[in-house]
Amino acid sequence: MRNKYLMFLGLFLLIIQWNIQATNKSYFVISPNGKTVVNFIVTDESIQYSVQKNGKKIINYSRLGFLINADESLCSGFEVIKTSKSSFDETWNQPWGEEINVRNHYNELRISLQEKSDKERQLNIVFRAFDDGISFRYEFPEQKNLSDFIISDELTEFALASNDSAWTIPAYKGVYYENLWKKAPISNLDTVTTPVTIEMEKGKFLLLHEANLTDYAKMNLFPVKSSSRLKVDLTPWSTGVKVYAKTPFVSPWRMIVLADNLNQLYNSRLMLNLNDPCMIKDTSWLLPSKYIGIWWGMHMEKYSWSQGAKHGATTENTKKYIDFASNHHIGGVLVEGWNYGWDGDWVKFGNQFSFTKPYPDFDIVELTSYAKSKGVELIGHNETGGATINYENQLDSAFSLYRKLGIKYVKTGYVNPLLDKKERHDSQYGVRHYRKVIETAARNGIIIDNHEPVMPTGLQRTYPNLMSQEGVRGQEYDAWSQDGGNPPDHTCIVPFTRGLAGPTDFTFGTFNFTNTVYPKTRVQTTLAKQLALYVVIYSPLQMASDLPENYENNPAFQFIEDVPVDWAETIILGGKIGDYVVTARKDKNSNNWFVGAITDENSRELNVKFDFLTKGKKYKMKIYKDTIATNWKNNPYSIEISDKIVDSKTSIDLYLAPGGGTAISLFEL
Ligand code: NOJ
Repeated sequence: MRNKYLMFLGLFLLIIQWNIQATNKSYFVISPNGKTVVNFIVTDESIQYSVQKNGKKIINYSRLGFLINADESLCSGFEVIKTSKSSFDETWNQPWGEEINVRNHYNELRISLQEKSDKERQLNIVFRAFDDGISFRYEFPEQKNLSDFIISDELTEFALASNDSAWTIPAYKGVYYENLWKKAPISNLDTVTTPVTIEMEKGKFLLLHEANLTDYAKMNLFPVKSSSRLKVDLTPWSTGVKVYAKTPFVSPWRMIVLADNLNQLYNSRLMLNLNDPCMIKDTSWLLPSKYIGIWWGMHMEKYSWSQGAKHGATTENTKKYIDFASNHHIGGVLVEGWNYGWDGDWVKFGNQFSFTKPYPDFDIVELTSYAKSKGVELIGHNETGGATINYENQLDSAFSLYRKLGIKYVKTGYVNPLLDKKERHDSQYGVRHYRKVIETAARNGIIIDNHEPVMPTGLQRTYPNLMSQEGVRGQEYDAWSQDGGNPPDHTCIVPFTRGLAGPTDFTFGTFNFTNTVYPKTRVQTTLAKQLALYVVIYSPLQMASDLPENYENNPAFQFIEDVPVDWAETIILGGKIGDYVVTARKDKNSNNWFVGAITDENSRELNVKFDFLTKGKKYKMKIYKDTIATNWKNNPYSIEISDKIVDSKTSIDLYLAPGGGTAISLFEL
């Protein structure tokens, strides 16, 4: 009886399948290496896509489309009016980055859809298949029946074929993406923001993120009915509207990186390839740099941002920092608290910030010329308290003043859960503001390091003056976080989650772990791990965050002096997300290599082969490592520094202490 029933069910399913095939219109685009296939189908009820790699379903049929103007669906009743296919293959150079050349190689399928009803609204979907993943975006062409409209919901889904585990941070909970990343099965996720890093079987990875977020809302995802089907959730305006649009209009790219291992995942440049080429003609001024700052002193309450006895940004103190930077090959000095607006509750009264008026004890003219005479760049600071209207009103005058004074780098900040007390940072409102700042900065020759950003999506390809961003639970949490600071595994997760969205201004480099303000909070690493992080977590603006007095006469600081911030090549030599990472990078301006190895709370023994070095060449290796007695909890400073001559045949055994690491410089001889 049971067998008969199963046979009947099988036959029934087969008939349904035949019917789908008979009514479906089906289109394909295949990656250049032939391994990845995107399939797009149109039925009366829906438009859907699926993805396969090596013949295996990765994304099952998933819905596409929109709900617009509150209750009008734009996801069914379509017919295909035109399709076209094209291929693209170009290698472009980055003005700065983790490697010099990036290959942008894909096959494209463009589908033009029109509603069969008399509304006849049109929607195009463009798919691209790359060797390292796939992407798609929606285009709303200019048309007579759709002009100004509201996106009430984006219906895009990613029906993952397997309920694997994903590394995520929640959307809407916490602020500025400053959460600890957690691993959980896809079906158990909360509403999360992207990037979402999924660990698949056999050491493979899938990354869900977006590229070229322009005049749109940030994409978040949630599992539909606790399944592995993720649906898009766009961050709304305070009105509840997701996106205000006017045709012609395009969405950001939805992208899926498919990687066979951690190195491929890390080195995928899909996100950058999906952004527009560089808009800045002369990029020679876009110079990566290390920097120190009148900064940690504020977080440790030695200095204040505001005026008074503890004011940090004084002319005299800034000169001390400039001298230290100049003596130790550090390119820049960040000065926070130099301008009017910090006195009182600056988060509440962000609109009191002036971006042109220095405090009386900060002689901006003298300091810029002093910095210049010492070959050091002053890095300006524009904390807005989230008052973007106040900031936008001053943008032109502030940036042209900085330009006149020769201040080329500006760190921006938006400390307030809401922009202008109303809108979320990652709403379309926020996205528009950040874009305006980047574009105005580009016109004025200003490089931006943006804190409290919308999650990066690769805009630095188009505007490489957007050099680094925060959007991470960074080192400042080791100053004042009530939970004790960043746990040791945090930095073993960040490179493969937030780090995949772009340069991360984490601001490590603490040498003195004593915290007199919050004694229970501290940097939960060893000293050697602080050094290794300069290689493991990428930013072309890399801070040495501690006070100069904590660096003086410490031989470990030599590594920070030596380590570059601009790279020709990057290799992930080993790692497991959340457990350990070993990264090697080649300097862009020499043949030197640098290696960083870090571990979580567990000690670890690793073997590192130097077969990435140029064959036949000798290198002087300087190694900074934990000793057998080192432990982040009670003996963090114990470090062994030694030299050795090595070549591409060398392999070394490393011991990483609990919460520890190893930093290695390899200077070509
Ligand atoms: C938060 C930023 O992340 C931090 O770096 C800065 O010092 C404060 N805001 C003040 O602007």
